[in-house]
Amino acid sequence: MEIKKVGVLGCGLMGSGIAQVTATAGFDVTVLEAEQRFLDKGFSGIEKSLAKFAEKGKLKETPDAIRARLKGTLKPQDLADCDLIIEAIIESVEEKRKMYASLDAVVKKDAIFASNTSSISITELAAATKRPDRFIGLHFFNPVPLMALVEVARTIMTAPGVFETGYAFAQKLGKVPVRTSDKTGFIVNRLLVPYLLDAIRAYEEGVGSITDIDTAMKLGCGYPMGPLTLLDFVGLDTTYYITQVMFDEFKEPRFASPPLLKRLIMAGWFGKKSGKGFYDWSDPAKPVPQDAALQGVSAERAGNVAPV
Ligand code: 3HC
Repeated sequence: MEIKKVGVLGCGLMGSGIAQVTATAGFDVTVLEAEQRFLDKGFSGIEKSLAKFAEKGKLKETPDAIRARLKGTLKPQDLADCDLIIEAIIESVEEKRKMYASLDAVVKKDAIFASNTSSISITELAAATKRPDRFIGLHFFNPVPLMALVEVARTIMTAPGVFETGYAFAQKLGKVPVRTSDKTGFIVNRLLVPYLLDAIRAYEEGVGSITDIDTAMKLGCGYPMGPLTLLDFVGLDTTYYITQVMFDEFKEPRFASPPLLKRLIMAGWFGKKSGKGFYDWSDPAKPVPQDAALQGVSAERAGNVAPV
């Protein structure tokens, strides 16, 4: 099946990134949101990102030409003739199932449905539709325009041709797809989440300050970001949600949320997007580690120094 027109559900961090790379690859894209202000915010991010790529000479077309293939809408009917729908709304089984069930009635029968979920069962989402054989996972990574990987996940109900169409679509986006199956967390989060949670546990146990832990993993292992910076970057609320789903699935302590993560969530410290997490992001170029606040001691005692 040939994919020409793509619908993206949600224009947040992931949805806007997916819409951007899909339009950049030459597809017509319609993004569905619940409110105009979410579309405006997402499209403004896309324009900034496209301008950055243009500045570096990394686009084959002008940002305006790419932008012209991108439309926003508040009406599900505008997605009726899409060949592929990629959902990137809030990580909530109920919200996603509701969304798929309503779109199932509107979008043409042979269109493929895909979810960008990082942890919710694709099988459970597919079962909310009348097209479970035409349902896959397409898991992108943050920031979508820069990260090369897409995990393509099949369920036991996915038709082989649909799975291969999803794989080929990811390649057309210029991404590197990997094949995986509907096992909670797929490949990346199965390995990444215990590592991130262990970094929080190490911090809770006083193994090192926020800066020490991040510097150690950056310089000791060559990672582009330390784990606590990455947590702020991915979103502590997103991570917390993922841990709940993964713990519920596997009942293994390594997937359980450390108490500090839960406290940060209850405080509304979701990381970079909310302005505060392990770091204060008031100036995104100079994040300030929050050891003093998290440990209830003075900044000097907490070793509050700038990260490398
Ligand atoms: N669009 C266009 N350009 C962008 C951009 C965007 N959205 N975001 C950043 N850039 C540009 C920057 O402006 C910068 O340009 P410059 O060189 O001209 O200044 C360039 O890209 C490099 O960015 P930075 O200088 O900020 O920093 P890095 O060199 O560290 O690269 C990074 C940024 C690619 C994000 C790198 O730090 C990285 O790979 N970090 C790890 C990210 C990661 O692990 N993501 C996966 C998270 S897990 C996930 O998403 C799954 C989910 O289910 C949890």
